[in-house]
Amino acid sequence: QPVQLWGGRFASGPAEAMAALSASTHFDWRLAPYDIAGSRAHARVLCKAGLLTEDELTGMLAALDTLAQDVASGEFTPTIADEDVHTALERGLLERAGTDLGGKLRAGRSRNDQVATLFRMWLRDASRRVVAGTLEVIDALVSQAKRHPEAILPGRTHLQHAQPVLLAHHLMAHGQALLRDVSRLQDWDARTAESPYGSGALAGSSLGLDPEAVAEELGFATSVENSIDGTASRDFVAEFAFAVAMLAVNLSRIAEEVIIWNTAEFGYVTLDDAWATGSSIMPQKKNPDVAELTRGKAGRLIGNLTGLLATLKAQPLAYNRDLQEDKEPVFDSVEQLELLFPAIAGMLETLTFHTDRLAELAPAGFTLATDIAEWLVRQGVPFRVAHEAAGESVRVAESRGVGLDELTDEEFEKINPALTPAVRGVLTVEGSVKSRNARGGTAPERVAEQRARLEERVTAARQW
Ligand code: ARG
Repeated sequence: QPVQLWGGRFASGPAEAMAALSASTHFDWRLAPYDIAGSRAHARVLCKAGLLTEDELTGMLAALDTLAQDVASGEFTPTIADEDVHTALERGLLERAGTDLGGKLRAGRSRNDQVATLFRMWLRDASRRVVAGTLEVIDALVSQAKRHPEAILPGRTHLQHAQPVLLAHHLMAHGQALLRDVSRLQDWDARTAESPYGSGALAGSSLGLDPEAVAEELGFATSVENSIDGTASRDFVAEFAFAVAMLAVNLSRIAEEVIIWNTAEFGYVTLDDAWATGSSIMPQKKNPDVAELTRGKAGRLIGNLTGLLATLKAQPLAYNRDLQEDKEPVFDSVEQLELLFPAIAGMLETLTFHTDRLAELAPAGFTLATDIAEWLVRQGVPFRVAHEAAGESVRVAESRGVGLDELTDEEFEKINPALTPAVRGVLTVEGSVKSRNARGGTAPERVAEQRARLEERVTAARQW
């Protein structure tokens, strides 16, 4: 027996194409457990307001429990005649509680305040799964950093050799960005912890209901201040979509580096067989598809964000049906991330770094020139002069086809008398990284401290 929530004023049912356009259970069925949780809370406030007797409440909650079980087991599913998740579950309730009792639950609520509330609940749970997945990726970065506490990486700017850094420092730079994504979701969650339930269609309820009690039961900190805002606002969706798109962009930056590092020309890393794919025609190929899919999906998540913003743009208050388009983009973003997390974590965890090659390349491109200049500054030479002298050292070394450390004492002295043989102390990659020992720098002891703090924050985030 199909159920319709709004049949009364209509002489006929919807045209087939109308119903097909309108239907949303193929995606909003995800909200079913939240819808039932909302119904339980709503039944309780109806009872508190004297609109359900204690017996009726008991019967209603029992029917909702059965419905919840049947939804979980797959015994109850939406049909094509159900317009949306709310309609389907209304049918399910009426079937279980009977139409007299079941028909009382809709008093004082609208699908507008329901869907806004349930969607917040779904996203708040999803944010926890996204955080958990992100922490797995950070774990993989930290574990590589621990495996290579003092390995050197040729640090780059503009993709050109710049200055040597610790590989661990570089890996944790990605970790810092990912931890910000985590805290961004946590900040978002605090703002999203307001329940719209009780807002009704837009104007609030006349039935003496208690929105705060519903909010508390559903795990919100409070209920919304404004029923119009509660039903019409979707900035919580857009902000979530941004937070996860930013996360995907950060993941894509790691992915891009893995792709580059994995080329024959770089030769920094080898991918584990389990996290690479082959070619159907070229037998020798071993491709970094995890990283490429990460890069590709970042584009998809950006699209989900921009599509959503376009949907929201210029919608007058309060609810408009356009808002039904708010769910699929973020459902998709979360689904894509959940596919990515274990794969990225697995790929990173099993990556082999060729640390000998990294160390060998680190001084290439005169990356220790800054160290010469700063060494001179420490000897009291003005930086302008020091920069000149270091630059000239590069020029001389380049013209001779040698590294900076291969310049003779005489050559150094000729460039600037302050360049005594003691400068050689900073002309090793190890000496260079060691000297960058202020907070945030790449010196091994600073990096070890950074890693410890990062791990503490990861542990704290796991408690969230
Ligand atoms: N399915 C709708 C949505 O996802 C909620 C139902 C509100 N429909 C309505 N006609 N007021 O936004």
